[in-house]
Amino acid sequence: MIELNASKRIKEILQMIPSCKIVADIGTDHGILPILLAESGRCEEIIATDISRESLDKLVKKLEENPEINNISTIVSDGLSKITEPYPDVVVISGMGSRLIIKILEEASDKAKQIKTFIFQPNTTVDELRVYLHDNGYKIINEALVYENNRFYNILATERNNELYNSKSHYKYGKLLLENRNENLRKHLLDEKNRFEKLFKELQTMKNKSQVRIDEIVEELEIIAEALNYYEII
Ligand SMILES: C[S@@+](CC[C@H](N)C(=O)[O-])C[C@H]1O[C@@H](n2cnc3c(N)ncnc32)[C@H](O)[C@@H]1O
Repeated sequence: MIELNASKRIKEILQMIPSCKIVADIGTDHGILPILLAESGRCEEIIATDISRESLDKLVKKLEENPEINNISTIVSDGLSKITEPYPDVVVISGMGSRLIIKILEEASDKAKQIKTFIFQPNTTVDELRVYLHDNGYKIINEALVYENNRFYNILATERNNELYNSKSHYKYGKLLLENRNENLRKHLLDEKNRFEKLFKELQTMKNKSQVRIDEIVEELEIIAEALNYYEII
C-alpha cells in the first residue's frame, strides 16, 4: 500500500464510485484517487488525466516507484478530449469550479452523453452545475457534503435521465441532501442564515444602500428558510 495523505473529500469521492470496468479521473493532479481506486480493486481499468504534464508527472512518478500497480494509464488531456472508445463507464471531475466542469462537459457533449455515471466535486457555485445538469439530461442520483479545512465540499453523482426540481432551494442546496436531512448541510444552512442576516443588518445602517443588494439578500434568506423547513427549523 502506498503511503498517501488522502483527504476526507477524496475518500468520500471514492465511496461514491460504483464498481465498474473503466473509470477516468479528469484533472487528477497528485493522482491520489486513481491509486486509492487501484488499491480498492473496484474498477478493472483506471485512466488518470490532467491538462498539465507537470501535474500528471506526480502520479507517473508514484507509479514508477510502485510497479505492482499496473491498471492505471496516464494521459495529458484537456477535459475529455483524449478519452477514446471504449469510453469509461464512470468519469470523475473533482476539485474544479463548476464553470470549468461545465466547459469540459460542453466541449465533449456527445461523448459525455455516452458515459453512464459522472461524479462531480465542484469547488464553486454548485447551484449552477445542478441547473446545467438538469438542462442537459443528467439526473442527480446521489449527493454528499463533506466538511474539511473549514469549508464544505459538495459531491454529486449523475446518470443520464430527465429530472427537474421545482424549488430554488433544491438547486441551491441539493434536493437529496435536504431530503436526507444531511447534518453537514444543516450546519451550512445555519452559517449562511447568520451570514446573510448580518449582511442585511449592516446594509440597513448604510446611507447609500443598494435596493438590488437588499432584494438579493432577502431572496437568499427566503431560500434558506425554505431549506431549513426540511429540518423543521424556522
Ligand atoms: C485543484 S486540482 C484537483 C485535483 C483532484 N482532481 C482533486 O480533486 O483533488 C485541479 C486539477 O485539474 C487540472 N485541470 C484544470 N483544467 C483542466 C482541464 N481542462 N482538463 C483536465 N485537467 C484540468 C489542473 O491541472 C489540476 O491538476
